[in-house]
Amino acid sequence: MTSDNSSVDDAAVQHTDPVRDTTARKPRDLPAERVVVGVTGASGSLYAELLIRRLLGAGVRTYVVFTGTGAKVVATELRTGLLPALARCERRVRLEELPELQSAASAVGLAPEQLSELRLFPNEDLYAPIASGSEGATHMAVCPMSMGTLARIAHGISGCLVERAADVMLKERRPLVVVPRETPLSLIHLQNMVTLTQAGAHIVPAMPAFYMNPTSIDDLGWFVVERVCDALRIPRLAEFKGVRWNVRNL
Ligand SMILES: Cc1cc2nc3c(=O)[nH]c(=O)nc-3n(C[C@H](O)[C@H](O)[C@H](O)COP(=O)(O)O)c2cc1C
Repeated sequence: MTSDNSSVDDAAVQHTDPVRDTTARKPRDLPAERVVVGVTGASGSLYAELLIRRLLGAGVRTYVVFTGTGAKVVATELRTGLLPALARCERRVRLEELPELQSAASAVGLAPEQLSELRLFPNEDLYAPIASGSEGATHMAVCPMSMGTLARIAHGISGCLVERAADVMLKERRPLVVVPRETPLSLIHLQNMVTLTQAGAHIVPAMPAFYMNPTSIDDLGWFVVERVCDALRIPRLAEFKGVRWNVRNL
């Protein structure tokens, strides 16, 4: 991926080009909650699509990073929505200026001001703000999470931005919610989940329930995404948007 420093947002410019006039840095006015969504190469792109929509719909600053396989799996699994358009963005441009993204956002009911909270970082960019503990993100979800990324995060291997951002969450004791997806699970997968739990991450497996009588695939997706939002513990995400367990269905 290439980067176009003339069109990236201010925060990214300061990090990707340290030779720029750093004395001209503006005081930051960062939002209180800044959530990274790492989209990796596990099946379940719909979960990422719904989670990102949910965060933006709640007005939360959302940083998205795809792994290489994550972007490919999105192209395989999703035909419509925000994520396929986002996964096709090769440069870190101002997202709200991309017509394709704007129409995808409006088709899923997102207003332009909600889309303006979205940022995309290349997975190779270890100079991105979210690679740093001091001024990076406040929360992170890896959704969906491949067993490869699970293994690397569990063992502190930070070779790309998704892994580094997760490593930062753990070392700074900030909320890291991961949505692993694989079946069946090997002992290695299970042990890595234990390791990650012991390190402070919250495991929310991609395991939708059926007791709420889902009528669509989106219902199943929302079920998992609402659990992710609960685990992130961001108050404005508490307002219910998806499918909840209903005792009357039992
Ligand atoms: C269509 C497709 C679906 C996949 N689904 C899964 C999955 O559900 N879980 C998993 O752990 N790996 C899955 N994989 C394999 C991972 O993508 C692969 O291990 C990759 O190296 C993960 O890279 P990443 O962790 O950098 O995203 C899938 C691959 C493809 C092409």
